[in-house]
Amino acid sequence: MQPFLKVDQVTKRFHKVVANDRVSFDVMPGEIHCLLGENGAGKSTIAECIYGFYKPDEGTITVQGNPAGLTSPRDAIARGIGMVHQHFVLVSSMTVLENIVIGTDAARPILDLKAAAARIREIGRRYDVDIDLEARIWQLPVGQQQWVEILKALFQGARLLIMDEPTAVLTPQEARRLFQIFREMTADGLSVILISHKFDDVMQSDRVTVLRRAKVIGTVNTRETTKEALTNMMVGRSVELRVKRDEHPRGAPVLEVRDLRAANDFGTEKLSGIDLTVHRGEIVGIAGVAGNGQGELFEALIGARKTRGGSIRLDGADITGRSPAEIQRMGMGYIPDDRFADGLVGDYDIQSNLILGHHRREPFARRGLLQFRAIRDFARKAIEELEIKAPSETTRTRSLSGGNAQKVIVAREFAQATKVILANQPSRGLDVGVIEYMHERLLEKRRNDFGILLASEELDELLGLADRIVVIFKGRILGEFAAGTADIERIGLLMAGQETAGKAEEIS
Ligand SMILES: Nc1ncnc2c1ncn2[C@@H]1O[C@H](COP(=O)(O)OP(=O)(O)OP(=O)(O)O)[C@@H](O)[C@H]1O
Ligand SMILES: [Mg+2]
Repeated sequence: MQPFLKVDQVTKRFHKVVANDRVSFDVMPGEIHCLLGENGAGKSTIAECIYGFYKPDEGTITVQGNPAGLTSPRDAIARGIGMVHQHFVLVSSMTVLENIVIGTDAARPILDLKAAAARIREIGRRYDVDIDLEARIWQLPVGQQQWVEILKALFQGARLLIMDEPTAVLTPQEARRLFQIFREMTADGLSVILISHKFDDVMQSDRVTVLRRAKVIGTVNTRETTKEALTNMMVGRSVELRVKRDEHPRGAPVLEVRDLRAANDFGTEKLSGIDLTVHRGEIVGIAGVAGNGQGELFEALIGARKTRGGSIRLDGADITGRSPAEIQRMGMGYIPDDRFADGLVGDYDIQSNLILGHHRREPFARRGLLQFRAIRDFARKAIEELEIKAPSETTRTRSLSGGNAQKVIVAREFAQATKVILANQPSRGLDVGVIEYMHERLLEKRRNDFGILLASEELDELLGLADRIVVIFKGRILGEFAAGTADIERIGLLMAGQETAGKAEEIS
């Protein structure tokens, strides 16, 4: 059988950075082909080359045996290659139908919307995707917004779909559904290139190509490999996939939240009376499906979201209603889940981002003057310690790979916080090596008597790290579990809100 896509010796450079170094692999019809590799290994770059967004400096890309000669995504679409980016490019005020048809056939003067809708419905039926074409994008959960992107690609005639970290923002149920859709597609001979750091995803593929430092290490059949073997190929050493947490006595309360209430940007109540205490030397885990108030809770705690009631105390001091800058100065560090929206200024370089919010303080400033050497030294040390893949400390953060951008935030917040660290989905999009590093740092902070509040959709991460786990559902805490006795089934049920509120009150 002839491969649908063949990538042959592709090299792509950005100035001095070699992002892809003679990369070769192929994708068969009906195959889910996974690209795996550390942050900055070159996965997104090769995907954008296949999608015609970047032009390779060397090498060829062939589609069904013909050199593709791609110079734009338009060419790629014409050759049956579609891509769903991690940050969707949908227009949120428009309907599903409008989003699917806009830009699809600009050459045709009158677009037959009715015929288009009928065809989209047919595609939806074929792949078992049930979606209201008249709904506006903003009304849909993320999982369904992603279906719109997929339907759009299929409507445009995609035979190969490139998905860059598609499950990063999905609930476990949504992710399962996505793979069902992939399997319907591959049954029809369509192919999927999947980029993901999650082994749950990777192990559902047919083959895996591992990239390390811009080069292909090898392609293996998923059925014939293991997580451990893949990790080894990817990082070049074995990685501790389980965290080792030692006993540590907890101290006095350092973060006390009482009856906290807050709304989202649209005025809908998202926190309906949160009670929560974090002690020094303790990691408290928040389990919950994304969108149940975690984001609003963290924003309220750091002063970026107005509260409607309740109080927050940091080390005994009432910080309710104070500004983010004040709260940060009082010792709170924050790792947000949306790194580009809330954590970094893309147009600033790495060193500026590393001191953001602390640039008026020693050692970065003295008598109102910036201390460039101190800033540079701090940045170089962070780059080395976290293995941030970038040419230098003066590289703009916008050009960093997703995982490397996250490392910049982690370095800044871990270095600056003195009492409490808040982390919302900190390992999303990070490779296993970096996750291992971050877990070690979190445990080190715990040993140094920080209070840590950690929200994660990965139950395994919470079970490995947290001393206590609370479950958040629709803006309320439903139940609390000690690390040792945490019952995964119960936590799962509470996460889905499948226990009556009355019973939940009893637990908490
Ligand atoms: N537009 C760009 N300008 C300059 N350098 C870039 C650009 N895009 C990517 N790079 C660099 O190319 C390398 C590969 O980046 P890429 O985004 O492909 O990594 P990745 O494997 O997708 O990583 P992640 O898992 O973190 O998303 C990195 O060193 C990155 O900084
Ligand atoms: Mg990437």
